[in-house]
Amino acid sequence: MKINAVILAAGKGTRMKSLDPEHSKVSYPILGVPLVRYVVNAVRPLVNGKIYTIVGYGGDATKAIVEDLTGIVWQREQKGTGHAVLQASPFLKDEDGVTLVLCGDTPLLTTATLENLIQDFEKKGHDATVMTCVVDNPFGYGRIIRNEKNLVEGIVEQRDATDDQRKIREVNTGVYAFDNRKLFQELDNLTADNAQGELYLGDVLTLFRKKGYVIGASILEDQKEMLGINDRVQLAEAAKVMKLRINRKLMLSGVTIEDPDNTYIGPNVTIGQDTIIRPNTTILGYSTIGPVNKIGPATYLENVTVGEGNSIVSSYITDTSMVNKNEVGPYSKIRSHTQIGSNTRIGNFVELKNAVIHDGVKAAHLSYLGDTSIGDNTNVGCGTITANYDGKKQISYRNRQRCLLGLRNNSCSSH
Ligand code: UD1
Ligand code: MG
Repeated sequence: MKINAVILAAGKGTRMKSLDPEHSKVSYPILGVPLVRYVVNAVRPLVNGKIYTIVGYGGDATKAIVEDLTGIVWQREQKGTGHAVLQASPFLKDEDGVTLVLCGDTPLLTTATLENLIQDFEKKGHDATVMTCVVDNPFGYGRIIRNEKNLVEGIVEQRDATDDQRKIREVNTGVYAFDNRKLFQELDNLTADNAQGELYLGDVLTLFRKKGYVIGASILEDQKEMLGINDRVQLAEAAKVMKLRINRKLMLSGVTIEDPDNTYIGPNVTIGQDTIIRPNTTILGYSTIGPVNKIGPATYLENVTVGEGNSIVSSYITDTSMVNKNEVGPYSKIRSHTQIGSNTRIGNFVELKNAVIHDGVKAAHLSYLGDTSIGDNTNVGCGTITANYDGKKQISYRNRQRCLLGLRNNSCSSH
């Protein structure tokens, strides 16, 4: 069966209350990764056709986040979720198979859950399957209306619901599987006859019902997965769930995390066995941490590669690689493509920028080593500075020669 997907990501996100008029909601990050990227990654393994992301408000930012993995379709005016899907009509309407529709603001959805939805759709011979969930607090979500035979009749949004309907705790997760051709035929018949004057995607189900098509529900058990981010309280809630999900997986794979509530590790980080992560540590970006390291407390790492047997205490390190058995910190700042060999010591109040630090170097305290290559076993004295800026002139990146501070077994200091 051909499977395509449409991810809705054009909405403004008014409830995020940002000062920045171009800040699309789905570009807010959790653990350094934008919300919509989580959704793309969850659906990607299931799609054998194409994924389209509908962008609009703050669309250039959203486009930049997903265009390597999905097609981009613009929704210039945001007239509702149904209107958003309609924009993909020129690209999809003549395709056979199933189209998954997801919202870009539900980062906790997993591939396994989406797979269940597709199976329900296929095995039960549905024309449309809506993923629903029975939640403790249904406020804000579309309510699922079922008839006396318990079949899904349609969806009523919070603002259009009667008091009785508002008591319904089975809600729309915003995720659907549709027979593709029928979806695009019926989208043309949607009307904006509701409290928000928008074309609601959920109303397609009512149109399907009128045509006698088969509609079903795929029930999501874990209500955490459907959390839609509409404001910054929900953003923090989802971040907490994601953090614990990632930490749990790492711990079960052999990483010690002393305080999982206060450890923030991104989804693209790998960590080897027997590494110990101490409290208040953040590791983000595409970071690869080998085995048997001690990291933290109070350490920030982003886009770093760390070998084996290193100790990094209370330090801030970005875009850096180090090999084995280095001692870093406390209070080191290391950045801009610095490379560190093995058996070095980078101590307190040492800043490294775009430096190559060879094996056995010791820079134990209070130094700035920038745009530098330091030879094996050099001992860098306290207060040493190497820089490409003399207060007036900065050597341009292109023409800059690395400052060579000692080649082998040297001891040096400069003030
Ligand atoms: C939507 C559903 C609701 C469901 C909930 C699940 C509708 C009308 N309501 O409500 O039934 O319970 O999701 O989280 O579908 N978007 C566009 N273009 C638009 C409008 C929205 O692309 O014109 C996108 C948004 O960027 C967002 C998604 O669609 O990613 C959902 O929109 P949102 O405003 O968050 O809808 P909810 O109120 O959460
Ligand atoms: Mg939402």
